[in-house]
Amino acid sequence: MELQWWFIIVLHQLQWFWGSISAMPPQPPVLCNQTSCILYNSYGAWGDRKLCHVPNVTYPTTEEELRSAVAYANRNNLKLKVATKFSHTIPKQACPAAAGSGNAMLISTAKYDSGIEIDAANSAVVVDSGVGLRQMIDKVEEAGFSLVAAPYWEGVSVGGLISTGAHGSSLWGKGGAVHDHVIGLSLVIPAKKSEGYAKIIRLEEKDPLLNAAKVSLGLLGVISKIKFSLEPGFKRSITYNFTDDSKVEDIFLEHAKKYEFADITWYPSKHTAVYRYDSRVPLDANGDGIFDFLGFQPNSVLISQSIRSSEKTMEKLRNSKGKCTLAATTVGFKKLVANGLKNNGLIFTGYPVVGRQGKMQTSGSCFYTGGIDTSCAWDPRINGLFFYESTAIFPVTKFGDFIRDVKLLRDINPDNFCGVDNYNGFLIRFLKSSKAYLGQSEDSVVVDFNYYRADEASIPRLNQDVWEEVEQMAFFKHGAKPHWAKNRNLAFFGVQEKYANSVKFIAAKKQLDPQNMFSSEWSDEIVFGKELATKADGCALEGQCICSEDRHCSPTKGYFCKQGLVYKEARVCRYSPPSVASGI
Ligand SMILES: Cc1cc2nc3c(=O)[nH]c(=O)nc-3n(C[C@H](O)[C@H](O)[C@H](O)COP(=O)(O)OP(=O)(O)OC[C@H]3O[C@@H](n4cnc5c(N)ncnc54)[C@H](O)[C@@H]3O)c2cc1C
Ligand SMILES: *[C@@H]1O[C@H](CO)[C@@H](O)[C@H](O)[C@H]1NC(C)=O
Ligand SMILES: *[C@@H]1O[C@H](CO)[C@@H](O)[C@H](O)[C@H]1NC(C)=O
Ligand SMILES: *[C@@H]1O[C@H](CO)[C@@H](O)[C@H](O)[C@H]1NC(C)=O
Repeated sequence: MELQWWFIIVLHQLQWFWGSISAMPPQPPVLCNQTSCILYNSYGAWGDRKLCHVPNVTYPTTEEELRSAVAYANRNNLKLKVATKFSHTIPKQACPAAAGSGNAMLISTAKYDSGIEIDAANSAVVVDSGVGLRQMIDKVEEAGFSLVAAPYWEGVSVGGLISTGAHGSSLWGKGGAVHDHVIGLSLVIPAKKSEGYAKIIRLEEKDPLLNAAKVSLGLLGVISKIKFSLEPGFKRSITYNFTDDSKVEDIFLEHAKKYEFADITWYPSKHTAVYRYDSRVPLDANGDGIFDFLGFQPNSVLISQSIRSSEKTMEKLRNSKGKCTLAATTVGFKKLVANGLKNNGLIFTGYPVVGRQGKMQTSGSCFYTGGIDTSCAWDPRINGLFFYESTAIFPVTKFGDFIRDVKLLRDINPDNFCGVDNYNGFLIRFLKSSKAYLGQSEDSVVVDFNYYRADEASIPRLNQDVWEEVEQMAFFKHGAKPHWAKNRNLAFFGVQEKYANSVKFIAAKKQLDPQNMFSSEWSDEIVFGKELATKADGCALEGQCICSEDRHCSPTKGYFCKQGLVYKEARVCRYSPPSVASGI
């Protein structure tokens, strides 16, 4: 077993040296035929629920075309949402209407993607909302500036990323959330007939509506332009310390205060925490490194497929040990290659790695390749990796207790956590308090964890009771908020009550979108986070509900609704071998 994994990973590494001569870029998220169009998610994450059919997709190239598309939708009473050329958000909030509804339209910003104007005198940049993050960063760096915050994945549009509250990691300055670097924004909203059915409003820094519009999930109107504040160009110096996890719950805050771009990756099954020592250094510091994050590098299609099929076999055989071997190999390999840091742009030769902000903060080399042998690991066309991404956001004061609880659960059987450790473990990042109504009103800690998702909703997952308990601990015991662009539905239950400013957000929505043009049943599911009144059989398997009866799990496959092991109020689907189960 062990040898086999090393072999796969060595192959994986060799592939970098061959280069990614023939990789395939992701497919565009909107596909049309003569009769209609379908909006897809980049992961294929919506595939097992009703597809998002839309009769009309429009591709404006200018702000005026954008305005006239909104006017058309308003005049014709259509539901309207924005799609991007990336479509990387996991919940289905960009879908304008239920299947079969002809009264909907989609505006794609895929071709509204060229305007990037640097305002050097004010250290700012104004960009069209469809512009890709990488495109903007490269322009900004060329002009001698740096954007301080960005998500780690660069395959996103600037409109999409601020709309969902995307972030990197920092407790310093304005902090790690990108929307806290937004100082102006233009929004196209529906208007009266006399105003031409749609108009553009320009929000400046002091306008309270900006606090609503910065993180607005596409619910207020179509963002046309965004103004970001910049800082003089700088470099970063990064060192990873792979060490033990014994004090992580006590020292996470100290770590975040000490390093401007600190983060922590925690691998519970390995009792390992990886501290990222990451500081700003001047532009004339030595080093021309890049951070080409391992998980976002092009993967051989064959290797992604073989990892997926091994995972499936381990799932079927209930082989936790196999997952632990994979996790150990993966963590070992990450240490060897410093997660993808490259000193000279090619390979890792030693710490610290110093490079320009624009090359160190965000990456996604799997996105740009053109061919057939490699792709992003999650490309839905190749039957490669398929996983859930849970992301919980805690006030800093509550995070230590969450870690303590997870440790109790881990200590019952550390092997149960190998299934998160073979992805990215728990990635811990930091955000500063924000004025955005749907942002974080206090200094916060964000934790992401990914885990295997079955091809079909009806198939239970190995150790799923553990992930469910961690999820419920985070969102219900410790009051975490869900990241708007990730998570399964249950994470959004009760979300309105968790945002003190959601009342102000809803007031802004009434003002800007009085007809609810920009809402759909899909986005309501996320924003209002209501529990389902009737729970279908198996609904807990994919996080559509929290189980309260066995039938919400999968009794025929041996999964029953049980209480949590540490958080007793949790209700999770746990495997019990048939002989035991029949006795209950
Ligand atoms: C591999 C990967 C890694 C990631 N890493 C991070 C990370 O490190 N940190 C983080 O915070 N997030 C991360 N994310 C999440 C990602 O940042 C968000 O999903 C982001 O919103 C995606 O942007 P997009 O351009 O694909 O937007 P989409 O998914 O297409 O759209 C997002 C939402 O915004 C709306 N919208 C888009 N453009 C506009 C507009 N112009 N006007 C009005 N509404 C609009 C859409 O209707 C939709 O509701 C990651 C995602 C992936 C796939
Ligand atoms: C193409 O049209 C058929 C109906 O003729 C429809 O069922 C199918 O989903 C459509 N595909 C796309 C991509 O719109
Ligand atoms: C689609 O929307 C555009 C406006 O953006 C409009 O001009 C066009 O007629 C619409 N097409 C259909 C088939 O409804
Ligand atoms: C890594 O962390 C450990 C434990 O916190 C510490 O003792 C050690 O000095 C650190 N190593 C480096 C290189 O900073």
